[in-house]
Amino acid sequence: MNKIFSVLILISGFFLAGCPDKVDPDKEIKFIAPAHFPAPIYNQEITPAGFKLGKRLFYDPILSIDSTISCGSCHQQKGAFAHIDHDLSHGVFNRLGKRNAPAIQNMAWQPSFFWDGGVLQLDLQPFGPIENPLEMDLPLNQAVHRLRRNSTYLTLFKDAFGITDSAQITAGLMGKAFGEFMKMLVSSSSKYDKYLLNEISLTSEEQAGLTIFKERCESCHKGVLLTDFSFRNNGIAVTQDSGRAHITLNPADLYTFRVPSLRNIEKTAPYMHDGRFATLNAVLNHYASGVQNTPNLDPLLNQGGTLGIPLSETEKTQIIAFLKTLTDTEFMSDTRFTEE
Ligand code: HEC
Ligand code: HEC
Repeated sequence: MNKIFSVLILISGFFLAGCPDKVDPDKEIKFIAPAHFPAPIYNQEITPAGFKLGKRLFYDPILSIDSTISCGSCHQQKGAFAHIDHDLSHGVFNRLGKRNAPAIQNMAWQPSFFWDGGVLQLDLQPFGPIENPLEMDLPLNQAVHRLRRNSTYLTLFKDAFGITDSAQITAGLMGKAFGEFMKMLVSSSSKYDKYLLNEISLTSEEQAGLTIFKERCESCHKGVLLTDFSFRNNGIAVTQDSGRAHITLNPADLYTFRVPSLRNIEKTAPYMHDGRFATLNAVLNHYASGVQNTPNLDPLLNQGGTLGIPLSETEKTQIIAFLKTLTDTEFMSDTRFTEE
């Protein structure tokens, strides 16, 4: 009798463990725009199968010429999908890229991609790195060919897009799946978000930092996304990289780069489009005393002939304390996005 009873307990325990009574809605594969964010630009449906395929592609080195480098090699989750510890990105055969790999987060709100805004559609963006000789160096038709030959991908594409045979695998569908994965990468659970939602308060140092930030940084690093998505020259010494002008060929865009979001900034060192600054302290020293009057320097950084943004040592410390409230550990440890 006793024995039967304990077997019953065991069986019911097994079922309970197997079927969690409530799935956390935030952890489902579903795109949810946070209530305190503006309306996203990309809002089409994400399906679990499309996301699964996109994630697999993101971590698969098969899309590089020598099958050594995946998107995830340069975009690491523990650094909000930036390339941590590398100033310039490293691609196949250890070829050195020209720019620092930015974070991939809140892409659904981003009107253009890359430091110079050279790509306008999230689904088309992955074609850049796949074909770029300094990154993955694989012609797109070869990438598609490799996927068509692979039976796992046939199943994944069937599930995601209802195709019936491998000839229907196209670059377009591949881009769509990448887009679904990247749209899901929403960072909205930092301490600052919880403060905005009135769930917690900031320390007095963080609060002081926020006040200075609003006064002196927010005109460019704007609102809840911490960027206005404009292209500007923030006074770092210029190099051969012409920035936005590379795309527009307009001299007025020379040396301007997209204002980056500062979300997770504590974890995405090194900083700027070429990764020239290793620490946030170095960034603040730049704004306080390193701004150079180069062509198209943003007028906000040249007020009445004074270059830069005046900041005392205490104020720098306070701003950094505030910037650290933008760290979203939930996002960087969310297992839905982790390589399997
Ligand atoms: C060799 C390193 C490397 C690899 C591999 C790589 N990237 Fe990147 N990624 C970069 C760099 C560097 C940039 C910035 C390029 C620029 O602005 O010109 C970037 C930019 C991006 C951006 C734009 C982010 C923004 O804020 O504008 C996205 C999205 C992105 N990569 C996704 C991908 C995907 C998807 C793959 C795989 C198909 C991939 N990357 C592979 C280095 C890499
Ligand atoms: C005039 C607009 C403007 C103002 C004001 C401004 N920034 Fe920036 N910020 C930029 C631009 C543009 C970049 C990217 C420049 C580049 O890489 O060439 C940038 C880059 C950064 C970066 C590096 C981000 C990364 O991902 O590499 C940090 C950190 C930063 N700014 C913090 C601040 C702080 C703190 C303030 C206020 C003290 C501030 N910024 C004021 C425009 C501005």
